[in-house]
Amino acid sequence: MTETHPDPAPAYPVGLRLAGRRVVVLGGGQVAQRRLPALLAAGADVTLVSPSATPSVEAMADAGELTWERRPYREGDLADAWYALVCTRDPEANAAASAEAERHRVWCVRSDDAESATAWTPATGRSEGVTVAVLTGRDPRRSAAVRDAIVEGLRDGTLVAPRHRARTPGVALVGGGPGDPDLITVRGRRLLAEADVVIADRLGPRDLLDELPPHVEVIDAAKIPYGRAMAQEAINNALIEHAKAGKQVVRLKGGDPFVFGRGMEEAEALAEAGIACTVVPGVTSAISVPGAAGVPVTHRGVAHEFTVVSGHVAPDDERSLVDWTALAGLTGTLVLLMAVENSGAIAAKLMAGGRPGDTPVAVIQEGTMAAQRRVDATLATVGETVRAEGVRPPAVIVIGDVAARGRNQR
Ligand SMILES: C[S@@+](CC[C@H](N)C(=O)[O-])C[C@H]1O[C@@H](n2cnc3c(N)ncnc32)[C@H](O)[C@@H]1O
Repeated sequence: MTETHPDPAPAYPVGLRLAGRRVVVLGGGQVAQRRLPALLAAGADVTLVSPSATPSVEAMADAGELTWERRPYREGDLADAWYALVCTRDPEANAAASAEAERHRVWCVRSDDAESATAWTPATGRSEGVTVAVLTGRDPRRSAAVRDAIVEGLRDGTLVAPRHRARTPGVALVGGGPGDPDLITVRGRRLLAEADVVIADRLGPRDLLDELPPHVEVIDAAKIPYGRAMAQEAINNALIEHAKAGKQVVRLKGGDPFVFGRGMEEAEALAEAGIACTVVPGVTSAISVPGAAGVPVTHRGVAHEFTVVSGHVAPDDERSLVDWTALAGLTGTLVLLMAVENSGAIAAKLMAGGRPGDTPVAVIQEGTMAAQRRVDATLATVGETVRAEGVRPPAVIVIGDVAARGRNQR
């Protein structure tokens, strides 16, 4: 993208294919450090000529990514180059190298004097196979700002640029994070913006659904009619049907799809039906909800481990797969999901297994959302506190010394 400028002749934009071609970089300072990764990513055969280099540039040389000649520039360095970046701290060397580049017809970027350079580096960025390169003449900050706006927009889907090729129908299992719409990943947000059909859970960033264009079909997973089939089977079938109809389907889940999210059941059902499935990890409530309430799941000198446990069945229920007695013997943090109803029974089981009754407990309801609230208790009091305070799901219960932290946070 080039902006019309008072200059009589604006730069001509082009994409150089530098793989295997000799590129000479003069100077190993900050400018080289910023430009080298893109040259190396393009596969250029880079020779760096410089008596010194920043530690990052030196690391690239040590890793064999480029050839470093530890000396100042000398005439002849640019002879066989296809492209040159001149960025030493010595203006005379820069001028001499530029003159050599001109004689040999090597396109040359010069960091200290854009006016006499024969090439300019655009502000570049990449998103999902698209390279964005922006030149604004003499305003590199504006170039960077325009680049950022385009790349960010492409990444999060706010800049809609439909694909006309390589748009394959399929399903993306997207972890939406704990509820705050800002906590979905950039990839998740983009896929949501590209979807034809979204099947959403009750938990997760539901606000984002309002932003979808009217043609997108939004289906509430809790309301899929399932007759005699199991609810999960009905959801799997809905995913398969829509994907088979050629739609791009997003299965939007709360937190991370693979943390008590039944994501694997859906992925397996899709694989069995021969449907392409992408899994986009999400920010799990198990870590983010405590964090949002000021509770770190680990803390130096306090907890060296944390264990995430589902409390959806009571400890004495025969369906329980959890060894509560073993958990009672741990000294680190226990993070309970889906445990509001069974909190008293779980606390009793942990105390019976030896975990002290005065162990701090923090209960965080509707974490990261406007209605977030935190209720503090101990292992001995948590069952009663949850009842007395009217705590309702969704809530995360954190047990351990870390739960004494952040009490004065909102
Ligand atoms: C079926 S699990 C799904 C967990 C999800 N896959 C994740 O990684 O966060 C649902 C439980 O997650 C917890 N949860 C999810 N979002 C929450 C939130 N915003 N605030 C508090 N707890 C939340 C609650 O314990 C809730 O009962």
